[in-house]
Amino acid sequence: MKVEDKQTGSFYTPKSLVSYMSEYAMQKVNAPTILEPSAGDGRFIDVLTDYDSSIDAIEIDANKIEYLKSVCPNNNVQLICANFIKYSLKSNKKYNLIIGNPPYITKKVLTEDERAISIELIKYWSLPDSIFQNLWVSFVLGALKLLNENGAIFFVLPFEFLQVHYAEKLRNFLEEKFNLIEITTFKESVFPDIEQDVCLVYMTNISGIKPIVKYTTVKNIDDYNPIEYSEIRRNKPLKKWSNSILNDDEIELLMNLSNQYTKVSSLGNISPGIVTGANDFFIINDSDAERLNCKELLIPIIQKGSSVSKLLLFAKDDFLELTELNKKVWMLNLSKVDITNISGDLKNYLSEGMIRELHKRYKCGQRKRWHDVPIISSGDLMFFKRYNKLPRLIVNSADVYTTDISYNIRLNNEFDAHSVAFCFYNSLTLTLCEYSGRFYGGGVAELVPSEFKSLSIPYKRIHKSSVKKLDRMLRENKTIEEIVKYVDGIVLNDLSPNDLDVLKKIREKYLIRRLKQ
Ligand SMILES: C[S@@+](CC[C@H](N)C(=O)[O-])C[C@H]1O[C@@H](n2cnc3c(N)ncnc32)[C@H](O)[C@@H]1O
Repeated sequence: MKVEDKQTGSFYTPKSLVSYMSEYAMQKVNAPTILEPSAGDGRFIDVLTDYDSSIDAIEIDANKIEYLKSVCPNNNVQLICANFIKYSLKSNKKYNLIIGNPPYITKKVLTEDERAISIELIKYWSLPDSIFQNLWVSFVLGALKLLNENGAIFFVLPFEFLQVHYAEKLRNFLEEKFNLIEITTFKESVFPDIEQDVCLVYMTNISGIKPIVKYTTVKNIDDYNPIEYSEIRRNKPLKKWSNSILNDDEIELLMNLSNQYTKVSSLGNISPGIVTGANDFFIINDSDAERLNCKELLIPIIQKGSSVSKLLLFAKDDFLELTELNKKVWMLNLSKVDITNISGDLKNYLSEGMIRELHKRYKCGQRKRWHDVPIISSGDLMFFKRYNKLPRLIVNSADVYTTDISYNIRLNNEFDAHSVAFCFYNSLTLTLCEYSGRFYGGGVAELVPSEFKSLSIPYKRIHKSSVKKLDRMLRENKTIEEIVKYVDGIVLNDLSPNDLDVLKKIREKYLIRRLKQ
């Protein structure tokens, strides 16, 4: 791959992928007219000129168009120097195949004008402005506008398209427009240098078929033999296309089981922790506290999941250990404090903060006094929203506060914190975490608050000795399989061995994809 220019979203498609996509599409769709909406150095055109089609190739960059003119004398190719979004709004021409790798450029770095034309296109389709977070969204909608009734779109898109919340309305809209959607993902990274996971999305309408979403995993850009294949016919529209890695039966099993148990949302009051706006300033260690002479203004806080990893019950002793290791576990709570009465050292510290212009930072700048961090009360349980292999729900026996890395649950009276935490580590809930959440390049998973609240936990009262045993197992670094097996044996003991087996396989599928194992 030749990495060109990040600002223009120009990551050229590897040639083997270009050939695969072109050949695939040309076998499936009758395409006398083809459009490449972001031609770059013309690598799609190179392959597509082997066919007898008329090709329009658009590219915004005049230098690239000049280059393409010099290397592409083919009469069947029309090179157009234009902004594709503008072109799609103006043109009435229709194409049988629209194929390419559109630029991925976040809305933030686009000019006002560029944003305005994308919004115009979104309005054309009566979609909400909120779906426009990245230029690839506009490319999909522009392509849709220029597509023939029986034509096909085949794009390389960021993997996030399949799962991010902002694109949900776009996905639903496309499910209404096309009855065949084929998604291809790669076990190995296509663009390893930029941590950008991608997928291929092929969309068309085939007369006489019932709507279907197909999901294929292949090894890499040199080997397109399917490793995994699944299709969704019933559970549509899918909230997340990334979940079409499951088939209908698997989704239905997951949903049926999920409906039988306690929803996390009904456990109590749930909220993300404290947003300081400047953790590196407000969160300090014991030595800092001593130096600033401000012990009476501190509250205990957890700002890193790694501080409380490998345990179930976070006790006062565990917190003490962190302070003895001089970890940053104290938050300066200056809310409602009369600043004239604080120590001179702390006054200087606040001035240093101003010199660093912390008061101008987004969150701090919104406060009456920049250093008055709103306190969000601690919870009985803490759930760390990001995780690698194992999501973690921990009993907050040390009564610490957390930053917004975690969601704090203040339980309703009928629930017991130890039991909730214990019951969380079962195959169903852990699989639901994968189903409900999203993940980023590098494999880190995240659940936003609504996704966390949608989880189900097969809650039951657990004997103290079992809770202690699970805490010990986690502290002793037992494998995740051992942990889950132990919990399943107690909380999912009424499930059929077959259902349990399916759950485990589903979770494994997700983990292999996410962690590229
Ligand atoms: C990801 S590259 C893809 C190039 C080529 N199609 C490929 O697959 O290798 C995206 C290309 O889109 C062009 N581009 C960026 N914004 C554009 C726009 N609004 N309209 C048309 N082309 C644009 C960039 O100059 C760049 O050449």
